[in-house]
Amino acid sequence: MTSRAVQYRHFGGPEVLEVVEREDPVPGEGQVRLAVRAAAVNPLDWKLRTGAMAGTPAPPEPQVPGYDVAGVVEAVGEGVTDLAVGDEVLGKAPGAYAEKAVANAGSLVRKPEGLSWEVAASLPVVVSTAYRALDQLGLGEGDHTGTTLVVDGASGGVGVYAVQLAVARGATVVGTASAGHQDDVRALGATPVVYGEGLVQRVRELAPQGVDLAFETAGKGALRDLVTLVGSPERAITIADYAGAQELGVVFTSGGDPADERRWLADALPRIVDGRFRTTAVVTYPLEEAGRAQDDNQHGRVSGKLVLVP
Ligand SMILES: NC(=O)c1ccc[n+]([C@@H]2O[C@H](COP(=O)([O-])OP(=O)(O)OC[C@H]3O[C@@H](n4cnc5c(N)ncnc54)[C@H](OP(=O)(O)O)[C@@H]3O)[C@@H](O)[C@H]2O)c1
Repeated sequence: MTSRAVQYRHFGGPEVLEVVEREDPVPGEGQVRLAVRAAAVNPLDWKLRTGAMAGTPAPPEPQVPGYDVAGVVEAVGEGVTDLAVGDEVLGKAPGAYAEKAVANAGSLVRKPEGLSWEVAASLPVVVSTAYRALDQLGLGEGDHTGTTLVVDGASGGVGVYAVQLAVARGATVVGTASAGHQDDVRALGATPVVYGEGLVQRVRELAPQGVDLAFETAGKGALRDLVTLVGSPERAITIADYAGAQELGVVFTSGGDPADERRWLADALPRIVDGRFRTTAVVTYPLEEAGRAQDDNQHGRVSGKLVLVP
């Protein structure tokens, strides 16, 4: 059988993405094939597509972008015992921008009833990143009443969950966003502040008790200000400013253990389903418009999570 997938054979702009008809991928040991219902766009997808992270002039073989996926199990590889054909799941599948994608069973969790496919696909990367970074920052499970955290990029995919998780753990949160997203950040339980020039002064006025910890999610140059606010690089973490982290001695966190990611998703999903955590607005695109979706995300043209629906 064949099905459609988005791929690129050269690094470049959004125009290098093309929809092709290909043989359905076959699940190997420990894997399942999903009929993809929705696949989210993440900044990593367009960063990889440009080749900026590759160190080679062209991808070695055609690349299908995407990780975040929600779909139905339609074929099960050897050794998979906890998933069966027909199960509805979400998680990470390399090459999710497709009608069919193969995922490691260990990277998937069951989709709760009542959670839409689009929202389900929007969660795995951003939720697991928020949990991982807060854990590494010392804001893991437990009561953190009395701790003040600044989240830079609080209206973004990762920021939204980082703010809500920190608030749920008792922290006081100040979150940066554009002027148009101040109310959204307030609705998450944080004190909003506009990012940009003069940030240190504005945050100090909003948090006269002082700032204990900082999470930089935007990669827009605020890391030095955040270190100034918290007083030392060990009290800050970034997911988006690799060069700044090197220069300032701040931890840059990436990657992650699939078992942890499943645990974190399992913790977040009930809170999302019963409304304790707000989800980001979702904007959908067909597979044919994957390039436009990536470009809209890269240039901040569309708020919320951008999701491909095959
Ligand atoms: N290392 C990792 O494991 C990891 C994992 C996930 C993501 N990331 C990286 O983290 C970054 C954010 O990802 P995301 O999915 O949250 O992206 P996103 O949903 O596109 O959100 C980006 C946010 O950045 C905000 N922003 C724009 N300009 C800003 C500025 N000058 N100062 C502060 N914030 C600004 C925007 O806020 P407004 O809309 O209010 O302007 C927007 O909400 C990306 O670079 C991504 O590649 C890394």
